[in-house]
Amino acid sequence: MARNKIIQGTKIPQHIAIIMDGNGRWAKKRLMPRSFGHKQGMERMIGLMEHAFDLGVKYITVYALSTENLQRPKEELEGLYNLIRNHFTSYMERVCSKGVRLKAIGDTTLLPPDVQEILRNSEKKTEGNEGKGINIALCYGARAELVRATNIAVERGEKVTEESLAGLLYTGGQPDPELIIRTGKEVRLSNFLLYQSAYSELYFSDKMFPAFTDKDLEKAIVWFSSRTRRFGKTDEQLK
Ligand code: FPP
Repeated sequence: MARNKIIQGTKIPQHIAIIMDGNGRWAKKRLMPRSFGHKQGMERMIGLMEHAFDLGVKYITVYALSTENLQRPKEELEGLYNLIRNHFTSYMERVCSKGVRLKAIGDTTLLPPDVQEILRNSEKKTEGNEGKGINIALCYGARAELVRATNIAVERGEKVTEESLAGLLYTGGQPDPELIIRTGKEVRLSNFLLYQSAYSELYFSDKMFPAFTDKDLEKAIVWFSSRTRRFGKTDEQLK
């Protein structure tokens, strides 16, 4: 276990979600193409996942591609798909080797068929794993996720409750993200996990995603640990 001084005695969130923003700006500053930023971003994503699991985090959700991102130039999208084609399987085998279940969440039918197959194969390999998970959000939008969940309930003729609706989301059965981190200076949720984030602590970093280090993750966790989570109650009721 990579427990260290900073993290000792710190409350570790069970589920962390990350909006990995700033790959393009990070690359531009280095006079490099955006695809270089995405490649560095992918490596950072894997490093952060490994570090988070070492620290005791159980679930990690990363926003890799939003539904709106699909409007980006074809060349940039192909660059992202090529990252999946060339690196995803081996990276995921590595990160998931310690009993982690992988899920691709979002409308993945919008991806090229060969990319869908790579995702499905990686998911299948980890199907039997329980208690730890990675959700990679691709072609994801939270409003679309809610509409999808509602329609499933309607088709079943079910009236939803807060719990049953949560169960019909892509993250059904997982704890809600306790900590959501967004890199890249922007301060918004951008249609990410809108239902699941009702009580999440939100942490915004000015760093661009490829520059967000393991130590930065620890800093965010220490900050999370210092928050008083009242869930609508008073301080007195919590005592
Ligand atoms: C947003 O930053 C980031 C993305 C649209 C892609 C995120 C993808 C990765 C970190 C790695 C790839 C992972 C997979 C699974 C393909 P931006 O590029 O829009 O940054 P900018 O705001 O600086 O332009």
